[in-house]
Amino acid sequence: MNLKKITVIGAGAMGNGIAQVCATSGYQTRLVDIDPGALERAKATITASVEKLFNKGKLDENARRAALEQIVTGTEMSLAADADMVIEAVTENLPLKLKIFKDLDSIARPGAILATNTSSISITKIASVTGRSPKVAGVHFMNPVPLMTLVEVIRGYDTDQETMQTVLDFTRSLGKTPVEAADYPGFISNRILCPMINEAIYCVMEGVGTPEAIDSVMKLGMNHPMGPLTLADFVGLDVVLAVMEVLHTELGDPKYRPCPLLRKMVAAGHLGRKSGRGFYTY
Ligand code: 3HC
Repeated sequence: MNLKKITVIGAGAMGNGIAQVCATSGYQTRLVDIDPGALERAKATITASVEKLFNKGKLDENARRAALEQIVTGTEMSLAADADMVIEAVTENLPLKLKIFKDLDSIARPGAILATNTSSISITKIASVTGRSPKVAGVHFMNPVPLMTLVEVIRGYDTDQETMQTVLDFTRSLGKTPVEAADYPGFISNRILCPMINEAIYCVMEGVGTPEAIDSVMKLGMNHPMGPLTLADFVGLDVVLAVMEVLHTELGDPKYRPCPLLRKMVAAGHLGRKSGRGFYTY
């Protein structure tokens, strides 16, 4: 299937990054969010990122112009009506995603692929509220999207081979490397990453080390580019908690129990970079 028009739903950190790489790779790109303020912030983020990559010679003038001038933004889901593929990237909330997919199923043209950037929620469950489950797949980008090479591509229980092939080819056309994962909670990336971050938070709670000490161990000892607590702040503590809740509930194993300190910090509104405070202050 030949994709030309992509609509991204949700203009947060993931959605704006996905819209940016779609536009710079030549797709007609629309970005939808119910909050006009989020769309304005997304445009500013895309501008800053694109200028940086252009100045480093990583984007040419056409790609720069496509991202700065040609992304259509709006608050109406009708911007998905003639899309070849819709990529949902809203917050990690099951009822919200189910509602969006139900709406998209009636708005998007028959045959269009409906993809979700969910970090951990079942693709099969999301697909079940549509009348086109063979055309629903997971396309899980990593933050920051313009820099990270990986995209996990997840096959739901009913996803057909043509959809998988189209999504795999699409991610390659963005200059990314796709890795296929089966539809189990957290897929591959967050099944491994979030329990590691959760364990690092237990180490803070139990006084095994300070956040600085824990991050230094993982950076200097394991060559991770960011320590797990810096990364938690970067991804958002609410996102880490949401993923741990899915792993704990869906797999039923106590080893996935979210750390009480993580719950407490999220309850206090200390979500990391986006709220100005998490394990560090920004
Ligand atoms: N667009 C363009 N340029 C960007 C950018 C963006 N979005 N973000 C950062 N940069 C630039 C910086 O401005 C900087 O440019 P400079 O060298 O000219 O100043 C350059 O990239 C390097 O950045 P930094 O110096 O700040 O830091 P690093 O060298 O550590 O690189 C990083 C940044 C690539 C983010 C690196 O720290 C890294 O790989 N961190 C781990 C990220 C990671 O694990 N992501 C996955 C998160 S999990 C996820 O997303 C899944 C979800 O479901 C939870």
